[in-house]
Amino acid sequence: MSETQIKKYTYGTPIPTDAVVMDIPVTAGDPAGWKVSKADKTMTHAMSQDTVVYGLGETVRGINKRGWLYTSYNADDPHHEEGKHSLYASQNLLILDDGDKCEGLFVDHPGRVNFDIGYTDMDVLTVSFEDMDADIYVIEGDTPETIVTAFRRLTGPSYIPPKWAFGYGQSRWGYKSADDIREVARGYAEADIPIDMIYMDIDYMDAYKVFTLDPERFPDLPGFVSEMKEQGIHVIPNTDPGVKIEPGYDMYEEGIAGGYFCKKENDEELTAAVWPGKVHFPDFLNSEARKWFGDKYKIMTDAGIDGFWNDMNEPAIFYTEETLKKAFEDLDELRASEMGIQGFFTFKDIAGSIDNSPEDYRRFYHDYDGMRVCHDRVHNLYSFNMTKAAGEAFARNNPGQEILLFSRASYTGAHRYGGVWIGDNMSWWSHLLLNIKQMPSLNMTGFLYSGADTGGFGADVTEDLMMRWVEFSMFTPLFRNHSAWDTRSQELYRFKRIDDFRHLIELRYALIPYIYDQFVKAARNDTMYIRPLAFVYRDDKRCRTIEDQLLVGDQIMIAPVYEQNAAGRYVYLPEGMKMLRFRAYDDYDEEDLTAGDHYVPVALNEVLIFIRPGCRLPLAGPAKRVGEIDFENLTYIQG
Ligand code: GLC
Repeated sequence: MSETQIKKYTYGTPIPTDAVVMDIPVTAGDPAGWKVSKADKTMTHAMSQDTVVYGLGETVRGINKRGWLYTSYNADDPHHEEGKHSLYASQNLLILDDGDKCEGLFVDHPGRVNFDIGYTDMDVLTVSFEDMDADIYVIEGDTPETIVTAFRRLTGPSYIPPKWAFGYGQSRWGYKSADDIREVARGYAEADIPIDMIYMDIDYMDAYKVFTLDPERFPDLPGFVSEMKEQGIHVIPNTDPGVKIEPGYDMYEEGIAGGYFCKKENDEELTAAVWPGKVHFPDFLNSEARKWFGDKYKIMTDAGIDGFWNDMNEPAIFYTEETLKKAFEDLDELRASEMGIQGFFTFKDIAGSIDNSPEDYRRFYHDYDGMRVCHDRVHNLYSFNMTKAAGEAFARNNPGQEILLFSRASYTGAHRYGGVWIGDNMSWWSHLLLNIKQMPSLNMTGFLYSGADTGGFGADVTEDLMMRWVEFSMFTPLFRNHSAWDTRSQELYRFKRIDDFRHLIELRYALIPYIYDQFVKAARNDTMYIRPLAFVYRDDKRCRTIEDQLLVGDQIMIAPVYEQNAAGRYVYLPEGMKMLRFRAYDDYDEEDLTAGDHYVPVALNEVLIFIRPGCRLPLAGPAKRVGEIDFENLTYIQG
C-alpha cells in the first residue's frame, strides 16, 4: 500500500490528536466528489442507491451505517437503543462501497462530529462539525479491505494482548472481597469450566479511591495475586480516572501539588461527582500528568497484576457542583410555580439531565502541553490519553512484559495501546445481535481486541440468552462475562446446564490456536480478524445485505443464533461450505452444504462453524487454561 492512495486535506487549524502516525503532505483544495462548505461547516457526498457505508466502529444500528445520524462524542449511556446517536467510542472512519470502487474517509477531529448518512436526505451523506478545524483523509481503493489496510497503516498497528487474554474471563460488579473472588474461582474449578481471568470491579478499592486497596477486603494483594496465579488465574482490576478529593490521599495531594488536574476558567480544579464522591479529573492530555498517573499502575504491577480495564473515561460525570446548584434552583422555581402537567415533565427533565451534561464538558480546560483548550473541543481524546498513560507507562516501567489493557471509551489511536469493551449493554437478545454487528465495524477501525459483556451487563439474563451469547462470544478476542450488582447472577456454574456451558468454553479453548493465530495475523498485516461477508465475496451482491453472519479469520464463517426460542435459523452460503455442528470440541457432525439458502436447525447447546472450501480449521486438545493448550499438536478439519 503506497502513501499516494491517501490524500490529506486540512481545514482551519486542527488540534493535534496523535491518531495518525504517517506524515502525509496536505493536498490543496477540496476532495473530489465532496462538496465542502466552510460557512456551514459541512462536507457532503452523494450516495447512489447501491452505496453501502461501513465504519464508525462502536455505534448503534447495522454494519451498513446508512439511514441514521451518528454523533462522535463519547457518551456514558447504558441504553444502547437504535434511537441513540452516540455510544462510548468515537472512531471517525467511513468506507463508501460502490461495488467496483471504494472510498474511505477519516475525519481526524477530537470534538463533536455528526455523520448524517442518509438520515436527512436518503441519498446524501453529510459530515458536520461544530468547529471545522479538522484533518480529513480520503483513501481511494478497489475494495473495502484495501481501505481498511491503508487506514490502519495511517493510524498505526493494533495492540496485541498477551495470549492468556484470549481465555475466558468472569467479572461482576459485586465481588467485594478477595474471598468473593476465591469463591468464583472455586465455582469454576468445581464445575470444571476453563477460565483464565477474574475481574476486580471498583469494590476492591478503599472508598473507590483509584490505586488504593480496601485493607480489610483485600489485606494482601501480592499474596492474593500469586495465590490466584498458582491456580492459573489472572486478576484484572478496574481503573477509573476520577481522583477523590480527600486531604491526605496521595493521589489527591500529588495531583494538586503538580497541577495535574483539569481546571475551570477561573483556574480552580473542576469538581465532579463519580463513584468516590467528589473528584478531580487528571488532565491526561498533559504529558506530565499522563506520566504521573501512568506511573501509578506500577503499584498494581508490583503486586503481580498484569491486566487492567480502564473505565468511566468519557469521562462520565454524575454531576458537578455547578450543575447540581442550577438544578436545585430550577426545581425551587418549579416548586414556586403552578406545576401543572407540563411541570411534571420539566421536573423529570431537571433531575434526569444532570449527568454527563454538555455544559459540564464545556466547563473545564486542558493544558494540552502548553495549549489551553476547552474539554468540549477535545472530548474524544480524554479516554485515548488515559489508555496512552497506561500503555506508555507499561513500556517505560515494565519493558518486555505483556500486559492486558482495554478501555470503555476510545478514539482512533488508542487501538495502538489497548482494546475496548462495548460498555454497559443489557441482557437483551437485541444486544446480542448488536454485538454481532459491532464486531466487524470495530475491526475496521483497528480495535481488534474487543468484545461485549457476555450475557449482558444490566437487566436479568436468562439461561438460554447466556448460552447463545457464549456461542457468539467464543469467537470474539475479548471474552468476558460481566454483569451489574443488581441483576441475576450469571457465573456459568450457577446455571442448570453446566455440562453444556463447560463444553462450550472447552470449545473456545480448542479454538484458541486458530483465534490467536488469525488475530495476530490481522494485527501484523493491518487487516481484519472479523469481517462482513461482503468484504470477501465482492461479486455476490446478496452479501452486501447480510449482517448476521460473519467471517472469523480467513478460514471460517459463523452464523450465530440471536433469537429466543429459535430452534434454528436461515443461513446464506455464498459458496459451498462444510458445516460443522459442535456440541463439544470432540463431539461434532459434518455436513457439506451447497451455495445458497439453507434452514439449519441449531439446538440450544450447539455451535455452527462453516469452513470455506480449501480451508481448514485447527482444533487443540482439552485445556483448562490457555497456558495448558498444546499449540503444536492440533487436529485439522478440512473444508
Ligand atoms: C461502569 C462500567 C461497568 C462497571 C461499573 C462499576 O458502569 O461500565 O462495567 O461494572 O461502572 O465499576
